[in-house]
Amino acid sequence: MRKHVKNNVYWVGKTDWELRTFHGYQYSTHKGSTYNAYLIEEEKTVLIDTVWLPFADEFVDNLAEEIELEKIDYIVINHGEVDHSGALVKLMERIPNTPIYCTANCVKSLRGQYHKDWNFNVVKTGDKLDLGNGKELVFVEMAMLHWPDSMACYMTQDNILFSNDAFGQHYATEMLFNDLVDQCDLFNESIKYFANILTPFSAILRKKLEQIISLNLQIDMIATSHGVIWRDNPVQIVEKYAQWANDYKENQITIIYDTMWNGTKALAENIAKGISEEDNDVMVKVFNLAKTDDNDVITEVFKSKTIVVGSPTIMGGILHSMAGFMHLIKDLKFKKKKGCAFGCYGWKGESVRLLNGMLEDAGFEVINEGFEQNWHPDNESLEKAVEFGREIARK
Ligand code: FEO
Repeated sequence: MRKHVKNNVYWVGKTDWELRTFHGYQYSTHKGSTYNAYLIEEEKTVLIDTVWLPFADEFVDNLAEEIELEKIDYIVINHGEVDHSGALVKLMERIPNTPIYCTANCVKSLRGQYHKDWNFNVVKTGDKLDLGNGKELVFVEMAMLHWPDSMACYMTQDNILFSNDAFGQHYATEMLFNDLVDQCDLFNESIKYFANILTPFSAILRKKLEQIISLNLQIDMIATSHGVIWRDNPVQIVEKYAQWANDYKENQITIIYDTMWNGTKALAENIAKGISEEDNDVMVKVFNLAKTDDNDVITEVFKSKTIVVGSPTIMGGILHSMAGFMHLIKDLKFKKKKGCAFGCYGWKGESVRLLNGMLEDAGFEVINEGFEQNWHPDNESLEKAVEFGREIARK
């Protein structure tokens, strides 16, 4: 069922309440998601994006109830990833000659995924599509935000930016607009989305935001491809992105560890105590990675000025939860953050040296040699862990 967005623009997407992981199992979606597609009915009828593959039949059937499919003059695909292009094959079976407007890289991604030679029309930044009634769609390439094929488009007169993934959230809701949903949920899902998906592209994003701002477009709505449409003060999310893309950090130190027999856990809690004792203002958070969602912890890393990572030594290495997490941190290319390591060992200590190397490899400034504990910590060792925490706070 369509939902009214503005004037002759409608939402025709899919709300996926049940989704709990995205990108396979790479990203947790505790609150589901939406795949937003839009229908513009001016003199020309335009469909912007589709929905994820499992909902292809439902999408095409619903769309056919809303409009004679043959009336669609153009399809705009802002991004070829399957969560937005997944219903194209079903749709194009019904209207095979309809022109598809997308970037050159998007042609590659659509051909690569679906092996079809549809009626592709390649567009670049500044190209326009006449909608009639004095309105146009203006295309803006958004390469690497977050795929090489990504694009946004701006509808003149209605002043709607169809931003695709940018400014989105994995957040299922029947409420279409940002002012109608729980503001804490909205903020938390927006920052998690940025931290886990867009952080590596921060430098590109800074330049793109400058470019969009220099165009002096009036933006009344930002219609994303996931979550809500920003209609109430849409600039708020642009301003947040400008902050988040600028090597974001808060006054927070996050301790992340896994433990075998609770020795490394005891160190973690006493390091936290030391940081807090030394600096009352700093936000200290502690996470046992084996018991906490990776993507939620990544959001905490994103907010941190310093992270303290811990693992016992096992088989000459570290626990695989920490190894996987350190790999994720490296891929996300955090900038201007500090780190250090700690951990228990029985026979030969390797974990702290390995974690230090991984921190360095991930671009963190390693602020000390770390804290190694032979066997289970006694009271004296725990007091040393507190002092280690104080030293971290001082740096
Ligand atoms: Fe929402 Fe990059 O797909």
